[in-house]
Amino acid sequence: MGTVMQGSRILLIIGGGIAAYKSLTLIRDLKREGFRVVPVLTRAAEEFVTPLSVAALAGEDVHRYLFDLTREAQMGHIQLSRDADLVVVAPATADLMAKMAGGHANDLASTLLMATDKQVLIAPAMNVRMWNHPATQRNLALLRSDGIQRVGPEEGDMACGEFGPGRMAEPEHILAAIRLVLGRSRSAPLRLGPEVAARPLIGKHVVVTSGPTIEPIDPVRYISNHSSGAQGTAIAEALRDLGAKVSFVTGPATVPPPDGVEVIRVQTADEMRAAVEAALPADAAVMAAAVADWKVANRTEHKMKKDKGGMPVLEFAENPDILAWVSQLKARRPKLVVGFAAETDDVIANATAKRLRKRVDWIVANDVSTGTGTFGGADNTVSLILDSGVESWPRLGKAEVARRLANRIAEAL
Ligand code: CTP
Repeated sequence: MGTVMQGSRILLIIGGGIAAYKSLTLIRDLKREGFRVVPVLTRAAEEFVTPLSVAALAGEDVHRYLFDLTREAQMGHIQLSRDADLVVVAPATADLMAKMAGGHANDLASTLLMATDKQVLIAPAMNVRMWNHPATQRNLALLRSDGIQRVGPEEGDMACGEFGPGRMAEPEHILAAIRLVLGRSRSAPLRLGPEVAARPLIGKHVVVTSGPTIEPIDPVRYISNHSSGAQGTAIAEALRDLGAKVSFVTGPATVPPPDGVEVIRVQTADEMRAAVEAALPADAAVMAAAVADWKVANRTEHKMKKDKGGMPVLEFAENPDILAWVSQLKARRPKLVVGFAAETDDVIANATAKRLRKRVDWIVANDVSTGTGTFGGADNTVSLILDSGVESWPRLGKAEVARRLANRIAEAL
């Protein structure tokens, strides 16, 4: 098991605003998720949070001064800004945004922002009138055209007693935006606009299973199936793009797992069930894996040999039905459980029965009979079976099926 994001290094610039206290929660959350956080405080930020508390939570030295001789000798501010995988400014005050837009470099924070070759994500926080001020909006437009990513601000009651946009995004939303930006930077060139906060699944956690499972016969042989993992991978990507935190539990698929999600690799159905359980709680679960229905009950610890004579006889035991298991959980049941049904005959009738039998909310039914080319192919012709009826979708690329499904999940959550 391992995560793609683990060890990513975030250079976190904390600006001087009342929202700086939320950055402490952000540091804690980032650390819990396995990120490294290198904190930088502006002079004004020190009025709101102490360097000591920031250093203690981050488990790293706090960087505060541009002209710190020892540090300049050891690594220098250029190095500091380059070593990061992502630069996050939270809170980004009106002043910091103005400095960024104007290209100033008169303190450590602004110098790092000028010197970095990495993506920058800002989480603005200020009084609503300051946010709406033409100067801030002008700076925002400049930052957008410079390719700066943004999360928030959110709307609500503010510390100053006014109401409107200006509150810094909640730490969990910033975390989701970080995941999104990091995931993107490694795969396709950045396509999304700066309105990261508009992603409807930010703050939601979805578990996705994908790929085949393999069931050992002996240490060198196994039973498996033709699943490529293409549809499950596309679903995980689509959910990620809508801002979800995705735990991607995958058997040995031929399609590589997506960037920007937590990848948990498993082999057998038993391991997959355990990994799904460990990933809970979740807001939704999408079970796209082709789980082997049976495992070999008389698997041997030593390689079976031909010279023993006779033919081996395999005995089977039933694997756990992960979809049925997760659907029938009580307190830990995700709000929405989605399963797949690969059928060759009476697709709708069989899938509808499967939905009721396993107590699943939605079933994505597909026709996998020979000639459809679904297995390992680029397209999929599916019907979505819901409580309220059946929706038949046209033949679509797997990525488009995934996008439609992710949008439906976002609506449901
Ligand atoms: N599934 C699962 N665990 C299993 C078997 C299936 O989670 N041990 C999930 C798949 O990920 C998919 C759905 O159940 O979402 C597909 O079920 P399927 O294998 O088609 O149905 P079965 O109940 O095994 O019925 P049959 O094979 O007889 O059609």
